[in-house]
Amino acid sequence: MDFHKQEQEQPVVLITGCSQGGIGHALACAFAAQRCTVVATSRSRSSMGDLDQNPRFFLQELDVQSDESVQCVVNNVVQRYGRIDVLVNNAGVQCVGPLAEIPLSAIQNTFDTNVYGSMRLVQAVVPHMASRKKGKIVNVGSIIAMASGPWSGAYSASKAALHALTDTLRLELSLFGIDVVNVVPGAIKSNIGNSAIATYNRMPEWKLFKPFESAIRERADLSQGPKSTPSDEFAKNTVAAILKTSPPAWFSYGHYSSIMAIMYHLPICVKDFFLRRAMKC
Ligand SMILES: NC(=O)c1ccc[n+]([C@@H]2O[C@H](COP(=O)([O-])OP(=O)(O)OC[C@H]3O[C@@H](n4cnc5c(N)ncnc54)[C@H](OP(=O)(O)O)[C@@H]3O)[C@@H](O)[C@H]2O)c1
Repeated sequence: MDFHKQEQEQPVVLITGCSQGGIGHALACAFAAQRCTVVATSRSRSSMGDLDQNPRFFLQELDVQSDESVQCVVNNVVQRYGRIDVLVNNAGVQCVGPLAEIPLSAIQNTFDTNVYGSMRLVQAVVPHMASRKKGKIVNVGSIIAMASGPWSGAYSASKAALHALTDTLRLELSLFGIDVVNVVPGAIKSNIGNSAIATYNRMPEWKLFKPFESAIRERADLSQGPKSTPSDEFAKNTVAAILKTSPPAWFSYGHYSSIMAIMYHLPICVKDFFLRRAMKC
């Protein structure tokens, strides 16, 4: 087969949230290393500047909260490549604070990005995949949805919602030849801790929960400890799973992923005991 034809047959992968230092960026590089054509997107092109000169990447600005932005990027990709083979809904934000006091606008922003943002991309991309009876949709969930504990309730709930939506999508979209994969990271090195602390610094002062302020703040970068899994290791294994002819419905990888899978099956009183201790609650 000639080189040009081979290149045309490589999967076209669209990924959200590809800022340097994060999981999306590592996934973009891992897909490119498998000779995929990668549409790397983020809210600002400058956050992916290091990918600019590499011909494997097509860089686009995309805000998952905007209908216009999503439609514009999907149209650009279909116009340029004629198809989207893989969509990776990776963009996401953490949200830390006690549920009884956290501003509703912060909870809404978390769901607007993690849940509705992913659904916005799904709805924009599915017609193109369905017309070819082919495609893969990958939603990036979280192991935190397996055991929702104190101080990150909004984030855990958004990921639990995404897991449930992913389960439904897998069944509904199989009718159109589209595979749906729930990628469930453990604790992975990224910018998520720093972003969460920046958001946390804008929260109002807690009232009832003021005595727990330092425990709550610590929750913001819990995933960024010394044993967190490097994002390139996570990405390499995840991409290998996604590119299989029959990808798994669930792919979990990274520090804490086994512990959290066990936690899911524990009786509630045992789970609460561990979570109280871990979160100083
Ligand atoms: N790291 C972990 O331990 C871990 C564990 C479980 C699940 N996850 C999930 O993995 C995914 C990637 O997170 P990460 O750890 O790589 O965090 P990260 O380094 O903070 O990356 C998050 C990415 O999402 C982007 N983003 C945020 N809001 C957006 C919006 N409205 N539109 C488009 N992009 C937006 C960010 O863009 P900006 O740079 O512009 O903010 C950034 O590129 C998230 O869904 C996260 O929930 C991470």
